[in-house]
Amino acid sequence: MSGVGGGGQAGPGGPSVLFTGIGELVTNDPVAGDGPLGLVRDAALLVETGRVAWSGPAFATPEAAGATSVDLGGRAVLPGFVDSHGHLIFAGDRSGEFAARMAGTPYAAGGIRTTVEATRRASDAELAANLRRLVAEALSSGTTTFECKSGYGLTVGDEARSLRIARDETEETTYLGAHVVAPEYADRPDDYVALVCGEMLEACAPHARYVDVFCERGAFDEDQAGAVLDAGTAAGLVARVHANQLGPGPGVRVAVAAGAASADHCTHLSEADVELLAGSSTVATLLPGAEFSTRAPYPDARRLLDAGAAVALATDCNPGTSYTTSMPFCIALAVRELRMTPGEAVRAATAGGARALLRSDVGHLGTGARADLTVLEAPSYVHLAYRPGVALVGAVWRAGTQVFGRREWAVMGARAAQETKEKGQR
Ligand code: NIG
Ligand code: FE
Repeated sequence: MSGVGGGGQAGPGGPSVLFTGIGELVTNDPVAGDGPLGLVRDAALLVETGRVAWSGPAFATPEAAGATSVDLGGRAVLPGFVDSHGHLIFAGDRSGEFAARMAGTPYAAGGIRTTVEATRRASDAELAANLRRLVAEALSSGTTTFECKSGYGLTVGDEARSLRIARDETEETTYLGAHVVAPEYADRPDDYVALVCGEMLEACAPHARYVDVFCERGAFDEDQAGAVLDAGTAAGLVARVHANQLGPGPGVRVAVAAGAASADHCTHLSEADVELLAGSSTVATLLPGAEFSTRAPYPDARRLLDAGAAVALATDCNPGTSYTTSMPFCIALAVRELRMTPGEAVRAATAGGARALLRSDVGHLGTGARADLTVLEAPSYVHLAYRPGVALVGAVWRAGTQVFGRREWAVMGARAAQETKEKGQR
C-alpha cells in the first residue's frame, strides 16, 4: 500500500488547499450540484481548517489567496465512504468454514462462537493490531468513517475491552453483547440476556455510542431483543438491529419500535416491514457482502427505495459472513444484484451511511462538511460498478489531510514544488 502520512496537514490551523481539475464531483448536496448526488462536472473544491469551505463548478472558484493547489487531472472525487456496519474486533480466521459453505454447508449463526473462542484467547495488542490492519485496508479503498461493533467477547471483560480498543480508532462504536448467547449460558439464555442488560451494559456503555442485537432464529427473539434495546437506550445508547438476515422475522418491527438508527441486513422483508421502514426514520442498511459470502439470496433495494425508505450500504466486515473492507466491492454488488443504479449505490455508501450513523458532517462535500475526499483513478463514480474488482481509489483525504495515495499530491509536496517554482522565477 502506498501511503502518505505526516506533513501536508490542512487540519485545524493548517494550510488551505484548493483542489482543481476534478472531472466529476459527487457532493450529495443539491445546493452545490445537480440531482440527488449534487453532481458537478469540471469542479473545484476549497478546504480550509479541515472542512469544505466551498465546492462547485471550476468557473465559479472563489479567490483563495494563500491556498495550495492540487490538480487532480480530470479524476472523479466523491465523499469518503461511510461504512456504517462492521465487526472489526476479532481474532482468528474462518476460511475453512467459508470453503465448506461454498461446497454446500449452510451458514448458521453458531459459527460466531468459533471467533469468540479465538477473540477471548487474543491479547489486547493482537486485537488492536488486527483492527489497525483492517482500518488501513478500508482507508485504501476509500472509507473515511466506520462503525465497529463488539460481539466476539461475550463476557463482561471481553466485551468492554473490545469496545475500549475500538474506541482508539473510531467514535462510532457499538455494544453487541447480544450477538449470540455466550457458550457458558447455552442452557439459560434468559440469564445471558439479564447479564447483557445489566452488568455487561454498565461496563460497555462508557465506550459505546450504540447498542445492537442480532434478532434472528438461533440468536435472540423479539422479547429478548426488545429488552436489550430498552436497557441500552435507557443507558443513553442509540439502537441499531441485525434484522431479517437469515429469514423473515420480527427484526425490523423491533428496530422501528425502538426508534433504531438502522435496521441492518433487511434481506427477508414482508410488505409490512417495508412500509414500517418507509414510514420511519430508521435506515435500511444493506450488506450484500454477507449474501455474497453465504451464497444467500440478496435483499431487494429497489423495493425499499421505491417505497421511500432511506437506504445505506455497508460492508458488515467480519470473519464469518463478509470478510471484506471494500465499499467499492459492495457498490458493485448493489448495482448488479440489489437493483440499484450506480448513483443510488454511491449515495447509499456515503450519505446513506452518514444518516445511519446520525452524522451530518460526513457523507457529503457541501460547505461545512469534513473534508473527506476519495479520489478515483477514473473519470466518473460510475466506474465503481462498471470496473468491478479494480483498485480504483487513487488517493484519500480525511479532514483535509491526505491519508492514502499518490505522493505527488501530498500538500507538503505540492508546497515544496511551488516554492521551487517560485525560486526558479526569482
Ligand atoms: O452480521 N449476523 C450476525 N453477525 C454477523 C455474522 C458474524 C459471524 O458469523 O461471525 C453478520 O453477518
Ligand atoms: Fe453484522
